[in-house]
Amino acid sequence: MRAAGYEIAIYPGDGTGPEVVREGCRVLDALAEGGPSPWHCTEYPGGGEYYLRTGREWEPEAAAAAKNADAILVGAVGWPGATLPNGDIAGRALVLGLREGLDLFANVRPCKLYPGVRHRISGEYREVWTPKNVDMVIVRENTEDLYTPARGRLRRGGDTEVAIDTRIITRKGSERVIRYAFELARARSRGAPEDGVRRLTCIDKSNVMEGCRFFRETFDRVGAEFPEIERDYAYVDAFAQWLVRNPEHYNVAVATNMMGDIVTDLAAVLQGGMGFAAGGNIGAEHAMFEPVHGSAPKYAGKNQVNPFATFFAVEQMLRWLGGRKQDPRVLRQAERLENALARTLAEGKTRTYDQGGSATTSAAGDAVVTAIRNEAK
Ligand code: IPM
Ligand code: MN
Repeated sequence: MRAAGYEIAIYPGDGTGPEVVREGCRVLDALAEGGPSPWHCTEYPGGGEYYLRTGREWEPEAAAAAKNADAILVGAVGWPGATLPNGDIAGRALVLGLREGLDLFANVRPCKLYPGVRHRISGEYREVWTPKNVDMVIVRENTEDLYTPARGRLRRGGDTEVAIDTRIITRKGSERVIRYAFELARARSRGAPEDGVRRLTCIDKSNVMEGCRFFRETFDRVGAEFPEIERDYAYVDAFAQWLVRNPEHYNVAVATNMMGDIVTDLAAVLQGGMGFAAGGNIGAEHAMFEPVHGSAPKYAGKNQVNPFATFFAVEQMLRWLGGRKQDPRVLRQAERLENALARTLAEGKTRTYDQGGSATTSAAGDAVVTAIRNEAK
């Protein structure tokens, strides 16, 4: 029998995944204290290391649970030497597999700088940007493009002569993610930090690639339905420099899958590094949330990595869940969590190594749990 409350399926995965997810679960527990819990979490093992031990990336019931859950939280996947027979990373089922299998077409990556967070550039910790410069969301198409498994090798004798990855851009795939991005731009009341304009930037390489020309055409066609949103355009190479030089210009941006993968790691530098970057993989029926950083095997088990990306993933998950179920209790807890995170960061007492501090993963979790308890219910 199913426990009361929303069912959250949790996949800690590999490396540092379990450590950050453990803190994420403590935060979920803290938010639920003092009343009947609105949610119930179940953890499922899986990933690359699991594959090396068992020959399976995860168990069939773990895969089924993702379909039945109200929301999904993933830690990270990837373990040295864990490769599937076809060359893919073992553990892909938990990330790429869920994106494909549950049709999670929009990868939504907020990039917001909170007071108290530092940047690391050239090995120094500095406050280069202020929080009022950086508050955007990059929406990345999540199901096609170079990630479509339309790839292979041409061999002669035993040797590879040619390797091919096909870039597939479809009307359906582009249209739904672009529409999602326009709706998000409409829902965000603040607009761009620079001028308050509700702007959506289309990131592409339409001066060269046909798929990008098609993507931009779709952007304009869908955009005509949103006259209140300013349409903005950037070739991906130019976007890379403008993003760093003038982040306050950006409100919401939308990109195809591979370009979105690259520019969101770059954007993470603006928000304090990968230790703060969270992403929601959103579909029509399901959604999966994750810290964007990888499994970082060399830090595994050291209680050292920054759990804030996971905390922000939990916040994004609760916002999505509360919206989908139209449940103000859950939306309230998302807000409470964001306030607790902002307050903890502003105090600056629990900086992990990536922020030039020495706080442990669990100490950062302790601080956030305390901050949650101090937030009004
Ligand atoms: C990400 C990651 C994944 C991707 C990897 C782990 C397959 O880099 O979520 O950005 O390429 O999408
Ligand atoms: Mn990536």
